[in-house]
Amino acid sequence: MTQVSYPTPRYILEKVDRSLGLRGFPHITRDGKWQTTSDGYWTGGFWVGLLWLCYKFSHDEKYLSWAYQWLERLERRKQDKTFDLGFLFYPSFVLGYQITKDESLKGVALEAADTLSALFHQKAGFIYNELDFEGKKIGRTCIDVMMELPLLWWAYKETGENRHFRPAYQHCLSTIGKLVRGDYSTIHVLDFDLKTGQIMQKFTAQGYSNDSCWSRGQAWAIYGFAMAYRASQEKRFLDAASGLADYFIQNLPDDYVPYWDFNDPEIPNSVKDSSAAAIACSGLFTLSELSHKQKFKDAAIKMLNSPSAGYVFNNDSEGILKHGCFHKPAKLGVDGSLIWGDYYFVEALLKSVIEE
Ligand code: GLY
Repeated sequence: MTQVSYPTPRYILEKVDRSLGLRGFPHITRDGKWQTTSDGYWTGGFWVGLLWLCYKFSHDEKYLSWAYQWLERLERRKQDKTFDLGFLFYPSFVLGYQITKDESLKGVALEAADTLSALFHQKAGFIYNELDFEGKKIGRTCIDVMMELPLLWWAYKETGENRHFRPAYQHCLSTIGKLVRGDYSTIHVLDFDLKTGQIMQKFTAQGYSNDSCWSRGQAWAIYGFAMAYRASQEKRFLDAASGLADYFIQNLPDDYVPYWDFNDPEIPNSVKDSSAAAIACSGLFTLSELSHKQKFKDAAIKMLNSPSAGYVFNNDSEGILKHGCFHKPAKLGVDGSLIWGDYYFVEALLKSVIEE
């Protein structure tokens, strides 16, 4: 059995407790302090999710009560026309429903799922956001959307409705065809014409270059395809998840925490993204179970153990993980804590405890 030396539950709870009094949703840190958002931006669901995870392993009802308070603030987002509904409503309302069996949480999550499935563009074959580009309305999707789909897979399981399954399934096939390269690295963003569905451009927004591989995008795709396979049993999704995971693992440095972009020419003098490690790590536990391949679990445990992720001596940040990188080109959240990194890190820890 691999030796695991993760932080204690007390350490995690102390960190979360320090943030309970925040007025807004914690998003990214600057100089170790949480920067917050009033409406949850695309990340508020991960804060609520972290509270649910704390409740799950501590059984302390304080976290249940805090989670409900923050849910109230997120609910108003359920009709927002954005693919980020998956990030906003899965770790918050769906996870909350799974833990509490409270039907009111299920109802809200299904409403959000209806909004998300309606964002499927038939001609382009993608779930998308509409935005203004050079004076024209266009459609935009990105690799991250793979990890928005669990909201739809869950809704399908609850309702049996094809309107939840089809868009998610088609989006996965389009992603394999248009955002996954032959070597299983990924492209970040794709824009298309809203009338014809024709591709206008593929590029990176948060990575190093249009030809490079942004490590967090790769992580979203690994986990997203693993979840897609679990929900659909479509072998092509398992093959995609496995190929993407092999690429990720082969491109990791010795400490198993990826650089923010696998192709940054400044490596090794560049920044890491611990949140990409955390997402991939949790996804690899799931993929290992689905594929029956021990190599994915071995890699996940090495990531979880890596002191480079920064949880060991971390009193200089209000977050749990240091060394995350939100948006390097925009110089936002570079080498700080990121709320989704903390969420997936704790999720992965719980998986490692359950599976060990
Ligand atoms: N938009 C999701 C991310 O930055 O990973």
